[in-house]
Amino acid sequence: MSEMVRITDVAPRDGLQNEPGVVPTADKLKLIGMLAAAGVDEVEAASFVSPKWVPAMSDAREVVRGIASELLDAGPSPKNDARSWGPYRSASTELCQFSALVPNEKGMVDLLAANRGSGDDWTPGPIVKVGVFTAASETFNRRNTNASVEESIERFRPVIALAREHRLLVRGYISCVVACPFEGPIVPARVAQVASMLLDIGVNEIDLGDTIGAGTPTTVRSMLAEVQAATRGFRDEFYGEDFLTLHLHDTFGKAAECVRTALDLGLRSFDGSAAGLGGCPYASTPTSRAPGNIATEVLVRTVVDAGFRTGVDAEKLAAAGQFAAKLVAEARSRAATGAGAGETKS
Ligand code: HMG
Ligand code: MG
Repeated sequence: MSEMVRITDVAPRDGLQNEPGVVPTADKLKLIGMLAAAGVDEVEAASFVSPKWVPAMSDAREVVRGIASELLDAGPSPKNDARSWGPYRSASTELCQFSALVPNEKGMVDLLAANRGSGDDWTPGPIVKVGVFTAASETFNRRNTNASVEESIERFRPVIALAREHRLLVRGYISCVVACPFEGPIVPARVAQVASMLLDIGVNEIDLGDTIGAGTPTTVRSMLAEVQAATRGFRDEFYGEDFLTLHLHDTFGKAAECVRTALDLGLRSFDGSAAGLGGCPYASTPTSRAPGNIATEVLVRTVVDAGFRTGVDAEKLAAAGQFAAKLVAEARSRAATGAGAGETKS
């Protein structure tokens, strides 16, 4: 039997955060449900960041509450039963996990307030993992979070303490692992250093973000080799030795090649975004929009073609991708005409 590869779809967060038009919460929930039903291992559903910085994520609480009340109650299967979801269940094909970005303690407190199960008695909430984020580039991190890399890591300590208390897993994102839109190429040793800092403060997983999609098989190989060398011997209690995830953006059409390189180097976890939506707001310039993530459809095909397995149903994923693309087209059209969410201007 071929080896499993873990697939996370970040479309509801990374795919939508950069959109000028607001996608209605009900549509986000429908997309999240379609992605879960397509069999991805994890959906990054929301982001508890400042609404002044990222207005498109301002309904994070409603999204989390909606997952609990609308998606998890939808049927008797383990996938839809909050009571059977525990943070320490294996991330395999049978269960989809939901996660959310959290930049600081305030975001974590807000998430915990929203993250309740929908049963009469206490039930675990739908979010089983939070993602903290820093960068290998000082300039990018300052522009993205108003903090230096070291300051951002200090901000994560109370987040991680709360996550432990509430039995949530923690993903630690590092942006600009190949290049920064402001500083240019990033040396792999810096990425490895930030990865070690994140492991030291207790994240379960490191997610390596090629934020602007600059990676080639050569640069991704050097970066991964350096991170693997620096973190060799680390074993997470939940992910074991598979604690590295690769998060690619596909600016120059090289992301699939980079996935193959990473598979060769032993990585077994990747992020994608349905229909290739996305891009980080602070990686955009006034004249050019940040590029999208690797499409989950392409990611899954690449992984399967390389001889691995995923839990994803390609047809259901394609339907989710079509729906995601439609949401973005509608949101852009509303933004262009000045109409609010759910309202069309004639
Ligand atoms: P700040 O302005 O430095 O925060 O922002 P502050 O602590 O000085 O507080 C200022 C105000 O913000 C206060 O409100 C706080 O309460 C409020 P006021 O008193 O003025 O009314 N505030 C918050 N409100 C809601 N939620 C919060 C929160 N924290 C403070 N969590 C902060 C610092 C980090 C909050 C801000 O810079 C921010 O929200 N940045 C988010 C940027 C972002 O979301 N970027 C995209 C995600 S990262 C990414 O896409 C990369 C990735 O995909 C990987 C890759 O591709 O590389 C993950
Ligand atoms: Mg990203």
